[in-house]
Amino acid sequence: MGKALDGIKILDFTHVQSGPTCTQLLAWFGADVIKVERAGEGDATRGQLRDIPDVDSLYFTMLNHNKRSITLDTKNPKGKEVLIELIKQCDVLVENFAPGALDRMGFSWERIQQINPRMIMASVKGFGPGPYEECKVYENVAQCTGGAASTTGFDDGPPLVTGAQIGDSGTGLHLCLGIVTALFQRERSGRGQRVMAAMQDAVLNLCRVKLRDQQRLDRKHVLEEYPQYPEGEFGEAVPRAGNASGGGQPGWILKCKGWQHDPNAYIYFITQAPVWESICKVIGEETWITDPSYSTPKARLPHLKTIFSRIEEWTKTKTKFEAMEILNKYDIPCGPILSMKELAQDESLRATGTIVEVDHPKRGKYLSVGNPIKLSDSPTEVTRSPLLGEHTEEILTMLGYTQDQIAELKAAKVC
Ligand SMILES: CC(C)(COP(=O)(O)OP(=O)(O)OC[C@H]1O[C@@H](n2cnc3c(N)ncnc32)[C@H](O)[C@@H]1OP(=O)(O)O)[C@@H](O)C(=O)NCCC(=O)NCCS
Repeated sequence: MGKALDGIKILDFTHVQSGPTCTQLLAWFGADVIKVERAGEGDATRGQLRDIPDVDSLYFTMLNHNKRSITLDTKNPKGKEVLIELIKQCDVLVENFAPGALDRMGFSWERIQQINPRMIMASVKGFGPGPYEECKVYENVAQCTGGAASTTGFDDGPPLVTGAQIGDSGTGLHLCLGIVTALFQRERSGRGQRVMAAMQDAVLNLCRVKLRDQQRLDRKHVLEEYPQYPEGEFGEAVPRAGNASGGGQPGWILKCKGWQHDPNAYIYFITQAPVWESICKVIGEETWITDPSYSTPKARLPHLKTIFSRIEEWTKTKTKFEAMEILNKYDIPCGPILSMKELAQDESLRATGTIVEVDHPKRGKYLSVGNPIKLSDSPTEVTRSPLLGEHTEEILTMLGYTQDQIAELKAAKVC
């Protein structure tokens, strides 16, 4: 069976996390992704957080599946010639260098358009145009400058970053959508275009509901579904909401049986309005079904702390999985707090390919997250990440270089 992006060639000039997540998705959708790396070291993540000496790290292998690797010194004149051939033959160039790095290398957008007018050039940068556009940015900087940190955590604590890599992988996802959209437009226009995703913008996009709340706060000076209501003080900016749900259906994280010893013996519980009656029956608080202080969503807002601590009395008598099973019978939305260990062992995630076991010639078998986006006509097979420069000769041959020319490039340490 063919793949959605069969025939599309990606010049993958990405490193670290944000760019590689994007090109990995494109590879999973069938594109031929050619990762260009510096000879010797390659993508810095190959050597970061290593768990086995001299073997590509999990950081690298889990972000670079299904790609080919060519080593190339793109600051060397001969290396630039190879890069020009790659630009001519590829459909998309993806990069996430520090601002200006590609220009300094001699490959501005204008030059790239001259070399290949059909080229789509996609970039991740920390910030869009503005006071910070020249800054280098990593994940947590984006979380902090995009509104996630100021709205994450508890009211009486400092801002918090989240474990989900919304700055890096989140921006990679945004960029990926931009690329396939530009490819779609190219079908009609025949022209390439620039695609730009700034990490601050991507995080802010994912924090959209918090900008909603800022405007509600400006108007009403309180946010009734936040834990600060009704006793707490609201300031001028959206406060940290602890574990309150971001939507109109109040929720909280509640202790389950074993919480004293297991840091993940908790469940997320949502008091969705249509199932209020069922919730009251399950926890044995039937009077709340008709009590005017509890019977409507609006009436319940000032009592959320009382309500959740009463529900918690019940959840503490069940394991998170028992609670999940009982509550789902009544369509009460809830979710156990799953540890990474539990997720790694989850059979249904393995069955769908969301968690995959991959074999690597140097590290052996390891687990990875597969493609979370499932296409019925373009199934994903996850193959291992390339060794540094594993496909250098193959790619140079594809570009038309002879064996002698390749030997010369190698001797001159261009690749
Ligand atoms: C992530 C980041 C902070 C890393 O910074 P860094 O390690 O200093 O790396 P840079 O991107 O500055 O690149 C370093 C140099 O390597 C050079 N280089 C990269 N690949 C090369 C190659 N194959 N051959 C020759 N030179 C190469 C670059 O041209 C650059 O040179 P310059 O500084 O002389 O212009 C930075 O790339 C960045 O801010 N990227 C955009 C935001 C982003 O994606 N952040 C998330 C990372 S997960």
